[in-house]
Amino acid sequence: MNSCSGLDYHEATKHSWISVRQNPHRLDWESQPASMKFYPASLPRIPLSKASPAHRFIYHIGGITAKKSYPGVEYYLRTHPSAGALYPTELYFQARGVEGFSDGIYHFEVGSTSAVLLVSLEEYEGLEPFLKLRRPMRGLLFFVSSPWYRSAWKYRERAYRYCLLDAGHLLGAVEAGSHLYGHAYRIAYDIDLAGLDRFFGFGDEEFFLSAAIAAVPLSSADVKIPRNKPVQTDPTGVFAHVPLIEKAYRETMALAGCKKEPRFPSLSFHKEAWEDAILKRRSAREFTTVGMTKMQYEAILDFARQPVPSDCDEPLRLYAVLNRVADMPIGIYSDGKLVAAGDFAKKAAYLCLEQGFVAQSAVTFFLLSNGCNYRALYQKAGIVGHRIYLMARYLGLGCSGVGAYYDDEVREFLKDDKMVLYALAVGSI
Ligand SMILES: Cc1cc2nc3c(=O)[nH]c(=O)nc-3n(C[C@H](O)[C@H](O)[C@H](O)COP(=O)(O)O)c2cc1C
Repeated sequence: MNSCSGLDYHEATKHSWISVRQNPHRLDWESQPASMKFYPASLPRIPLSKASPAHRFIYHIGGITAKKSYPGVEYYLRTHPSAGALYPTELYFQARGVEGFSDGIYHFEVGSTSAVLLVSLEEYEGLEPFLKLRRPMRGLLFFVSSPWYRSAWKYRERAYRYCLLDAGHLLGAVEAGSHLYGHAYRIAYDIDLAGLDRFFGFGDEEFFLSAAIAAVPLSSADVKIPRNKPVQTDPTGVFAHVPLIEKAYRETMALAGCKKEPRFPSLSFHKEAWEDAILKRRSAREFTTVGMTKMQYEAILDFARQPVPSDCDEPLRLYAVLNRVADMPIGIYSDGKLVAAGDFAKKAAYLCLEQGFVAQSAVTFFLLSNGCNYRALYQKAGIVGHRIYLMARYLGLGCSGVGAYYDDEVREFLKDDKMVLYALAVGSI
C-alpha cells in the first residue's frame, strides 16, 4: 500500500504550457482577502522593541521591512518573501521564561509590529502537548499557520504549494534568527494539528502547518493544555471554499515513516552582515550580466545542502543550471556535479513560464523530491529556498523564488521524474 500523501494533489496542480493558456484567471480586486490578521484591540499588546533581543528575534521572522506604493495600493514587504506578496501565513508563539515577554501564547501582529497576548499561562500550562512534549519548555515555541485563501484568491488550487513554500520561508527566517542569536532550534511537523486548530478556534479559513522549537525542557511536572483559549478572529475578511486544497490539507496532516534529522547546519558568518542580509533581503527583478564567482556559488550550494534539523526529514534533490559562474563550465548540475554541458539559460527561463529575468541569472536552481510526506517536504523546500535567498544577499547577490513552472517539462529537461517543488534564480544585481 502506498502511504505517501499529497501526490494526487501535486499531480492535479501541475502547470503545463496548455493549462496556463487554457485557464487564465482574472483577479477580482474588489474581493482580495486581507493579508494581515488583527486580534481585537482590547487584547494586551507588546510593541516589539529594538532593544530587546527576544523582540528583535520575533521581528526578524516576518516583520515589515519595506513599503511599495502604487496608485491606489500599498504593499508592505517583509523579511521573508511570499509568492505574489500575498503572505498566506501567520506566526504564533509561546514564550516561557523569556525576557521581554510574560509567560503566554502570542500572535505576532505584523501590521503593528507587536505581540498580542492571546492567553496568559498558568503554572504547568502550555502548548507542549500539541508538540507531543511532556515537560514544559523554557524559551520560544513557534507555530506557523496558513490563512490559505489569501493565496488561493490568486493562485486557486495550486495555492497549497505556495502556502507550504511560504511557511517554509518563515521557518527559514526562524532558522536565520536562531543562528544570529545562538539558539538551538528544530523544526517540528509531527504535531497534533487538529487539536491545535481547535484550540485556536480556527474555522476552515486557517490551519496550522508546522512549528519550530527554540526552547529547552525544564525538569518539572507534566504540562497541560491551557484552560483559557484564544478568541476566534477572522484572518481574511473574504473566504471561499476550495475543496482540493482542503482535502490536500486533511490528507497531509498525518505523517508516515518519518526520519529524524538531528544535525544542525554549520554556518560561519559576520554577525552584523548576516543581520543586514535578514533585514535587507528582497526579490531581484533583473540581473546584470556580471554573474558570480565560483566561491559565491559554492557558499550558496553548501548552505543549501546542509542538514535541516527536523522530526521529519525528506530528501531534496538540488539541480543548478549554471549560466554565468566564473571558472565553471555552463550546464546542468545535479547535487553539485555536471550532468549536461551547454547553454540552457533560455530554456530554464521558458520552463519558468517565460520569465525573462531567469535567463539573466548566474544560476537557476530547481528543487525536486520523491519524499512521502508532502507537508514536510514542501516546507523543507521553502527553508532551503530561504537559505539561498539569504546567502545570496549576504554575498551581495540577488535572488528570486519562482513558484510557477511547467512541471512535466522541467522533469523532462532534468531527466528526473521526481516532483518539482520550487525554482530560484540567483545572480548579480
Ligand atoms: C514561493 C514563491 C514563489 C515566487 N514566485 C515568483 C515568480 O514566479 N516570479 C517572480 O517574479 N517572483 C516570485 N516570487 C517573489 C515574490 O514576488 C516576492 O517575494 C514578493 O513580491 C515580495 O517581495 P520581496 O521578496 O522583495 O520582499 C516568489 C516568492 C515565493 C516565496
